[in-house]
Amino acid sequence: MTELETELLATLEQAKAELALVNDDAALEVVRVKYLSRKGQLPALMSKLGTVPQEDKPAVGKTLNAVKRDLQAAFDETAARVKASNEAHAALDVTLPGRTVPTGHKHPISLVMDSAVAIFRRMGFIVADGPDIDTVWDNFDALNAPADHPSRSPEDNFYFDLEHCDYMNPNTLLLRSQTSDVQIRTMLAYKPPVRIICPGRCYRRDTPDATHGMSFHQIEGLYVDTHVSLADLKGCLGSFAREMFGERTKIRLRPHHFPFTEPSVEADASCIICGGEGCRVCKGSGWIEIAGAGMVNPAVLKNVNYDPEKVCGFAFGIGIERLAMIRYAINDLRLLYDNDVRFLHQF
Ligand code: PHE
Repeated sequence: MTELETELLATLEQAKAELALVNDDAALEVVRVKYLSRKGQLPALMSKLGTVPQEDKPAVGKTLNAVKRDLQAAFDETAARVKASNEAHAALDVTLPGRTVPTGHKHPISLVMDSAVAIFRRMGFIVADGPDIDTVWDNFDALNAPADHPSRSPEDNFYFDLEHCDYMNPNTLLLRSQTSDVQIRTMLAYKPPVRIICPGRCYRRDTPDATHGMSFHQIEGLYVDTHVSLADLKGCLGSFAREMFGERTKIRLRPHHFPFTEPSVEADASCIICGGEGCRVCKGSGWIEIAGAGMVNPAVLKNVNYDPEKVCGFAFGIGIERLAMIRYAINDLRLLYDNDVRFLHQF
């Protein structure tokens, strides 16, 4: 093969490689000028034909024609590709709204928890925290639960390592059955006055049904100071209920029993659905239970080395799932935990 033929074939390869990278008119023009224009590489090579010895001329001429044809074909192909892509871009309507990327959002339980926390923080409560796994002492003993109290039953609680530990042993661990254990942890860590809420998760061995789960959320409240009264508790829960459910919501307290409060009450809010007339949600009573509460039992204050002669307080525990079910009119608690996005998307 003559030197000129080698050069021709190399030029063709190089041009093809450059064309493969071309994506727009400007780049296409650069390649055209470089190879095909009057001052381009191809005419320059063609002009060298005259220097080829006579006997080689027919073969070199043939190669030259083939290269010229191939180069033009590669160029035309690229031009067609650029044109098609230009047209496709022209067909793109840039005024159309963009595609949304689904980002997800907060779970209804978190939404309700966040509103509850925000309301109590505005009243001056600060957020305290405690672990989900706690001791029998924090969860029961310090909260004045007598040894034979039914709430301690292994059938109702998730105790750890019962093979080696006794569930009456104060050091045995369990998944806390209530957020009230954080009352104890907070009072042991801080001197009075304390004014805390604790949003958190609790666990009980309930068989899941429309209103029970084996895990659920509470928001605990504790206020200990020198002159705290039951009227303060009622005022506090009343403010909470009005902010949560609306200005016209009323609160009523019913006598109840908890080992860690004395007196103890259950707090009802007037039904937000019927306004107290009686409906299916409130089962005709006009009231919906929202919290267990009461005045902190002096025995509990002693357990955390507070002086019951000097300080007193109130405590409450609100069920968050219940609030969510009322707020969003959800009739089955299990819907909240099925993780079905078609359901969760609605909130
Ligand atoms: N811990 C109680 C429960 O889980 C609720 C409660 C909290 C009652 C604080 C009184 C005071 O039912």
